[in-house]
Amino acid sequence: MIRLAIQKSGRLSEASSQLIKDCGINIVNGKGKLKATASNFPLEILFLRDDDIPGYVADGVADLGIVGENVVAEKAKDIHIVHRLGFSKCRLSLAIPKADTYNSIADLEGKHIATSYPNILGDYLKEQKVNANIHEISGSVEVAPSIGLANAVCDIVSSGSTLFTNGLKEVEVIFRSEAVMIGSPEVNAEQQKIIEKLLFRIQSLQRAKN
Ligand code: PRP
Ligand code: MG
Ligand code: ZN
Repeated sequence: MIRLAIQKSGRLSEASSQLIKDCGINIVNGKGKLKATASNFPLEILFLRDDDIPGYVADGVADLGIVGENVVAEKAKDIHIVHRLGFSKCRLSLAIPKADTYNSIADLEGKHIATSYPNILGDYLKEQKVNANIHEISGSVEVAPSIGLANAVCDIVSSGSTLFTNGLKEVEVIFRSEAVMIGSPEVNAEQQKIIEKLLFRIQSLQRAKN
């Protein structure tokens, strides 16, 4: 038996469940249930917050996880990327109010930036030699400038509609991401066989699509 952690609700959840289904794995999940067992494959699925998935995989609570690479990079845990899944592509970007002028990253010197990605942003600012104040917030980041909490935001952009709706414009892309399958460093030989079987099915699906 292996345990796979997927996002409970958010950008990746539907595509993650669909991938399992497309692999011919049948999951019966009661509404609101956070754990489900496959009826035709030795697999248990945990439905978690995406931010928690790298930690659970690193601790061996889950053997596999499907998350955005952005979350993996931010959490920097002892896990490895087993396979790139190619869906839920997005970018982590800096954005500022539409009316503000912007010439270069140096414009953010001394400014306040709201983000849920303090590590990735911190590394980027260091590399760019810009000193700014990072404010970590766990959600609704895009509202920060309009309520006077920050001058800029650093958050995930997919269609761009959240930025647009909140009167922001994207000024720098700092990280590009897609969904990835991550794996725990500690799986036994039997589990490794199951993982390979699952990966074989996923790769066949990807080949059929290309
Ligand atoms: C991201 C981000 C925005 C939205 C952007 O959230 O925080 O809210 O997606 O997408 P758009 O450009 O298509 O409008 P995510 O789904 O990663 O969820 P989370 O931050 O709550 O984990
Ligand atoms: Mg999240
Ligand atoms: Zn501040």
